[in-house]
Amino acid sequence: MRNLEQLGNEIHQCDDKIISALVERMRLIENVISYKKEHNIPIFQREQNEIQQNILKEKLTNHCFENEILDIFSHIVKNSKKVQTKSLFSQNIMLIGFMGTGKSTVAAYLSQMLAMEVVEMDAMIVEKEQMSINEIFEKYGEDYFRDVESKTIVELQGKSQLVVSCGGGVVLRDENIKNMKKNGRIVLLTASPETIYERVKDSTERPILNNQMNVSFISELMEKRRERYLQAADIMIDTDHKKVEEICEEMVERLSAMNEM
Ligand code: S3P
Repeated sequence: MRNLEQLGNEIHQCDDKIISALVERMRLIENVISYKKEHNIPIFQREQNEIQQNILKEKLTNHCFENEILDIFSHIVKNSKKVQTKSLFSQNIMLIGFMGTGKSTVAAYLSQMLAMEVVEMDAMIVEKEQMSINEIFEKYGEDYFRDVESKTIVELQGKSQLVVSCGGGVVLRDENIKNMKKNGRIVLLTASPETIYERVKDSTERPILNNQMNVSFISELMEKRRERYLQAADIMIDTDHKKVEEICEEMVERLSAMNEM
């Protein structure tokens, strides 16, 4: 029987092999991204991920450390996504658009897909002010809310590689658009007033729509803000009749095509 010292040394050697293998794996991921970019192949291929996942599960079925190794691989896959994302984007992805265009849903899916951290601007404001958006509007008024919103954008500008789901009104101030552009790509999500109404009609969390929850009000307000949204956007994606994964895949392809981020 080998003594403890020998066993310890063998474990160290084993760690060295794991490190080398991981470095090699990460390099391969970088090469895959470069190859795909060079040959205009879609960056994300959902089927490919599933195939890889199944191959791994098959290899480990009935293995004595099946669960442990699968758990380790879930971290490896997550970190490979990070490497992939690093070689695609260095800035923040700022999602803008009218209420109910799906910013939060898209942000959540995108964060899984790219292993990026999500920031919900409204949630940040609620946390900072220790009250709901409705309460802020009621107690201090819309201008106060907009001031907090502008300050939040400045704070986020100092961070990178975040997916930020912005409040629907961020585009109302020029300074916000200017600050968002400093360290972010701005993605405008759109939807028809009818779709928006269906998505938001049961919510009472949006002071701008409370008491005016109908298609014609939504349509009028959208029209008033239309130019502001278009002026801010680097790219625009319509979300009507699309699945969240389709929206996110389209977004990543278009953003990564916009040269280095
Ligand atoms: C607003 C949109 C809301 C929230 C606030 C004001 C707006 O965010 O910031 O109620 O003026 O469009 P969502 O777009 O996430 O609903």
